[in-house]
Amino acid sequence: MPTRSKQPVHRQHPILLFSRNFIKHPRMLGSVIPSSRFLIGQVLKQVDWERARVFVEYGPGVGTITRHVLKRMHRDAQVLVLETNGDFVEYLRGAIPDPRLHVVHGSAADVERVLEERGLGKADYAISGIPFSTMPADLRESIVQSTHDALRPGGAFLVYQFSSKVRADLERVFASMDTSFEPLNVPPAHVFVARTRTNGAGTPA
Ligand SMILES: C[S@@+](CC[C@H](N)C(=O)[O-])C[C@H]1O[C@@H](n2cnc3c(N)ncnc32)[C@H](O)[C@@H]1O
Repeated sequence: MPTRSKQPVHRQHPILLFSRNFIKHPRMLGSVIPSSRFLIGQVLKQVDWERARVFVEYGPGVGTITRHVLKRMHRDAQVLVLETNGDFVEYLRGAIPDPRLHVVHGSAADVERVLEERGLGKADYAISGIPFSTMPADLRESIVQSTHDALRPGGAFLVYQFSSKVRADLERVFASMDTSFEPLNVPPAHVFVARTRTNGAGTPA
């Protein structure tokens, strides 16, 4: 149920809104505050901003990473965000009035259907901070496989996580993977960059 407050959700302070929701749904959020600028930099340095036209983000929360993506992406690019928390969906719809942003109240598991419904085609990048370690294994595996299938050849799944539980699934499904660690975040996070196979011409995302 949406948080009751005198102010409309999109006028609330994003960090307070995030922290209040952590108290209500700790396992769904996984952290008490949004990602740090160090973690955001570590994740987004993977992106080829000139070429990418379709971004997907799972679990945008209050849009901490989404805002950076919108600021840096090509003016013809689009970003689809899938968020299960109704407060965050309401916040994003009110606080970020950018026509290139598609905010969907739904699960990462719906990615292929939603991309198709919106006519967005395959994605160049999927970005995810959803807590894979606290969800059932079959859901985690299904999201990893659907994300792979939703990406273009040479596309990349950029995953930041406080646990390395999803690593084996990424390694099994994707053609290649790099890992790194960002200590300057609360809590410190692993960053996994999982890529799909390039097409015959070797074209990257
Ligand atoms: C650690 S928070 C990340 C928030 C934000 N991206 C950031 O970097 O600060 C995880 C987010 O994932 C959302 N979430 C959890 N499970 C999800 C799922 N299956 N699909 C989409 N969003 C989900 C939560 O509601 C929460 O907003």
